[in-house]
Amino acid sequence: MHNITLIKGDGIGPEISDAVVEILDKAGAKINWDIQTAGADVAETEGDPLPKRVIESIKKNKTALKAPVTTPIGKGFRSVNVRLRKELDLYANIRPCKNIEGIKTPFDNVDLVVVRENTEDLYAGIEEKIDENTMHAIKVITRKSSTRIVEYAFNYAKKMGRKTVWAVTKANICKLTDGLFLDCAREVAKNYPEIEYKEILVDALCMQLVQNPSKFDVLVMPNLYGDIVSDLTAGLIGGLGVAQGANMGVDCAVFEPVHGSAPDIKGQNLANPTALLLCAIEMLKYLNEFEIAKKVENAVYKTIKEGKVLTKDLGGNSTTTEFTKEIIRNL
Ligand code: NAI
Repeated sequence: MHNITLIKGDGIGPEISDAVVEILDKAGAKINWDIQTAGADVAETEGDPLPKRVIESIKKNKTALKAPVTTPIGKGFRSVNVRLRKELDLYANIRPCKNIEGIKTPFDNVDLVVVRENTEDLYAGIEEKIDENTMHAIKVITRKSSTRIVEYAFNYAKKMGRKTVWAVTKANICKLTDGLFLDCAREVAKNYPEIEYKEILVDALCMQLVQNPSKFDVLVMPNLYGDIVSDLTAGLIGGLGVAQGANMGVDCAVFEPVHGSAPDIKGQNLANPTALLLCAIEMLKYLNEFEIAKKVENAVYKTIKEGKVLTKDLGGNSTTTEFTKEIIRNL
């Protein structure tokens, strides 16, 4: 039996969480879910959108599955997601991106991984008001964080049998900050002669990704570029509904999809639970539950390939409930 912290989040979070819990249960996964609430409602009742009990639960269980949590735009509390990553030092955000058979996209040979630094850059949230008309934000890049994220990318490439690691920056403009990131990448690359090392500017990367994505393999980059590029790469394989992710630290792992809480479709039984389900599959593999992981993976891929029961974002007209039932039928 595995003890796993489950954050159901808000928006579509609870709908997709319930779907995933049901599928894993029917697949025979032995999981004791430690359900923890976080977000705006919790801020009202407990005075903090990310109370200590959530952090303590993840520290105790070491593994969490997390649905999205809404962040107020331009005002209000700091992102729960960003705080969680920072407080647990989940320094590596891994976003694999591979075509899924049955989802029609302009390319059918995408197989890349975005490795995003998860703790600093403009996400450090250091902003200051100079006067009414001038605001500053500070981009924080350190040798320690840059070195360990690039090391993570190379180790990941080695473990997964991948061939190339690309360092992605804007070092021509951000000469000191991205320049430091690039220095660290070059140093680390020397220790991995079996993996090819390449560099590319983030703007050139974006253009080439939409022209010829199959040339890319493992892409490692600072936080903000990783955020933006991984939404782009999600688009290459069928959108946010199928884009998975994981936040890895030294002691803990939090598996969460790329997408947000999708308030526009909240409570309408329209959300696609695939992204969170793919995260749960990666979590099962992380827990060495390979057999159950494979069983769930086969069921979700079969459902999508058959194309009879699909959610709207995948071009179908089925509800979250119908799609979930079809995956369970295919287990
Ligand atoms: P979003 O990812 O929630 O939605 C963008 C578009 O994709 C919407 O049209 C939405 O309906 C669609 N979409 C997303 N996930 C879907 C799914 N599973 N099935 C079907 N359609 C799906 O991005 P948005 O609107 O920018 O953010 C909404 C909120 O989520 C914000 O408060 C944001 O801060 C938060 N957010 C939270 C994240 C997290 O908890 N890790 C990550 C990203 C955003």
